[in-house]
Amino acid sequence: MVQQADRMRGLTSAIFSEIADLQKKAIASGKDVIQLSIGSPDLAPAPHIIEALKSGAEASDSYGYTLTKGRPELLTAIADWYKTKFGVELDADSEVHSLIGSQEGLAHISLCLANPGDYVLIPDPGYPIYSAGPLVAGANLHRMCLTPENGFLPDLDAIDESILKQTKLMILNYPNNPLAATATPEFFAKVVALANRYDFIVCHDFAYSELVFDGYRQASFLSVPGAKEVGIEFNSLSKTYSMCGCRVGYVVGNAEVISLLSRLKSNFDYGVFAPIQQAAVAALTGPQDCVDNTVAIYQRRRDILVDGLNQAGWKVEKPKASMYIWAKVPTGQSSFDFTVDLLNNTGVAVIPGIAFGDCGEGYVRIALVQPEERISEAAARIKQWLR
Ligand SMILES: Cc1ncc(COP(=O)(O)O)c(C=O)c1O
Repeated sequence: MVQQADRMRGLTSAIFSEIADLQKKAIASGKDVIQLSIGSPDLAPAPHIIEALKSGAEASDSYGYTLTKGRPELLTAIADWYKTKFGVELDADSEVHSLIGSQEGLAHISLCLANPGDYVLIPDPGYPIYSAGPLVAGANLHRMCLTPENGFLPDLDAIDESILKQTKLMILNYPNNPLAATATPEFFAKVVALANRYDFIVCHDFAYSELVFDGYRQASFLSVPGAKEVGIEFNSLSKTYSMCGCRVGYVVGNAEVISLLSRLKSNFDYGVFAPIQQAAVAALTGPQDCVDNTVAIYQRRRDILVDGLNQAGWKVEKPKASMYIWAKVPTGQSSFDFTVDLLNNTGVAVIPGIAFGDCGEGYVRIALVQPEERISEAAARIKQWLR
C-alpha cells in the first residue's frame, strides 16, 4: 500500500473534482452542459503569435533545454511591456524571470521564502495554488477573509500582531480570481508599509492585469513607491494573449527574491521551450489590438450574463475586471447545493464559492469562457429555472 507523504495531505481538489464528476455525469446522461466553471480561455492567440510559434517549431535548433531565466529578447520584451503598460522600470537582467506559467512560480515561491512553521498570508476566497504552495513548504496559512463589506480587500488591521511577526510572505491578487475585485494604489501603499514593518515579502499575482473593462486600469503593485524593495509580481500570457496551454508566465520585481526563485528553478526545471518564448516575444512586442479584442469579447460576455441574470431576478453587479462573475447564491442554499441544483436543472456549470475557501461560502463563480450565444443561452435557462 502506497503511503503518501505528510505534505500531500494539504493538497485536495475534492470540490473541483466532485464538480467535474457531476458535469461528466450530466453530459453522459445527454444533458447539454454549458461549461462556465473552469477558467480556461476558449479564445485562440492572434495569428502573429501562432506564426512565431510555428517558425520556432520549424527551426531545428529550437529543441535543446533552454536552461536560462529566459532568452534576453523575452526578458527585455517583458521589461519594456511593464514600462509601457504600468510605468514600472525593471532591469531585464536581474528583475525579470520567465516561468512555465505563473502557476509554476506561485507553487514554488513559498519554498524559497518560508520555513516550516512560518506564516504565509493568503486571500480567502483565493486561487487554490495560494494555499497549496505554502502547505507543501510546511508553512502555516493565515487566511485573510475578503468580503463585500471590506471591498474584497484584506483588513490589514485585523491581522494579529503575533502572526505578522512570524509572516514571511503575503499573497495578493488583483484583479482577483474568483472575486473579480480590484485594488487601489493606496491599498498597495498600506501593504508596502506593513511589509516593511514586519519584514515580509509581498507576492502580487497580476494574471488578469489586462482583462479590465470600461476603460478601467488596475495599477501594478510595483508601481507603488517602495514596492520593489518588498515585493514581486507574477504575470502571465495565459489570459492576456489567450496562451494558457503554452505555459509561459513570468515574475518581476525584487532582484534578491527573483534570484532565490531562479536558484530553486535551476534545480527543478530546464526552462520554457524556445518556440514558446519566441511566441511570447511576438505577443508582448507585436500589435496590441489583439488584447483590445479579447477585452471587448469578455466585456460583452460580462454584459450579456450580468444583464441576463439581473432580468432573471438574480442581482449581480458588473465587475470592472477579470473573466469571472462572483454572484451571491440567490436561493439561500449552500454554494455547493446550489451549484448541483443549477447543473441538474439548467445544465449550467459553475464553481461553488466554498471551493476557494470558507469565506467564499454563499457565492458561486461563473467564468466567461463560452461564446456569447452560449452565455445568453445560460442566462435564458437560469431565468426559466428561477422564475
Ligand atoms: C489568479 C490566477 N493566477 C494564476 C493563474 C495561473 O496562470 P498561468 O497559466 O500563468 O499558470 C491563474 C489561472 O487561472 C489564475 O486565475
